[in-house]
Amino acid sequence: MSDKASQKSLSELIPTSYGQEDLTICKAFKYVESAQPPKSRTGQRLVVCHRDELKPGDRRIVDDGKQGIGVFNIGGQFYAIKNVCPHEGAQLCRGTIHATHAPSNVTEFIPALHGRVLRCPWHGWEFDIPSGKGLYDRHGRVAVYKVEIDESGNVVIVL
Ligand code: FES
Repeated sequence: MSDKASQKSLSELIPTSYGQEDLTICKAFKYVESAQPPKSRTGQRLVVCHRDELKPGDRRIVDDGKQGIGVFNIGGQFYAIKNVCPHEGAQLCRGTIHATHAPSNVTEFIPALHGRVLRCPWHGWEFDIPSGKGLYDRHGRVAVYKVEIDESGNVVIVL
């Protein structure tokens, strides 16, 4: 270590930002904050179950004839997300659910997105369930689908 570096206090040596990586994560969070609810693409309807069978914190993976769609009850709201991780194709909806922390200075910890972050079971990439946005970069995301409750109280994915 040079003489100059050894004379710095500890707080001077701690960086205040993650630099370029910080910018990328900020863009991911901005997308999450501004995301609009998903729209129907084909109008095809997939009945999942009665709403009473899917309590807050529960999930169900339904067969859509492809890789499946995960339906999650987060605080009484229902969300549907494709069951495929864009990294290497793991069954994303079998991952664990967490919070994360918002972009901040390195000495801060700001909890965010409580109970709505889905962590891929293979390598841990994280996604915001309602928007499908990957929280690791500015572009990555997973398809999300419109969810309705029908007149009988069934949770329905509208493709
Ligand atoms: S397959 Fe999901 S993080 Fe690698």
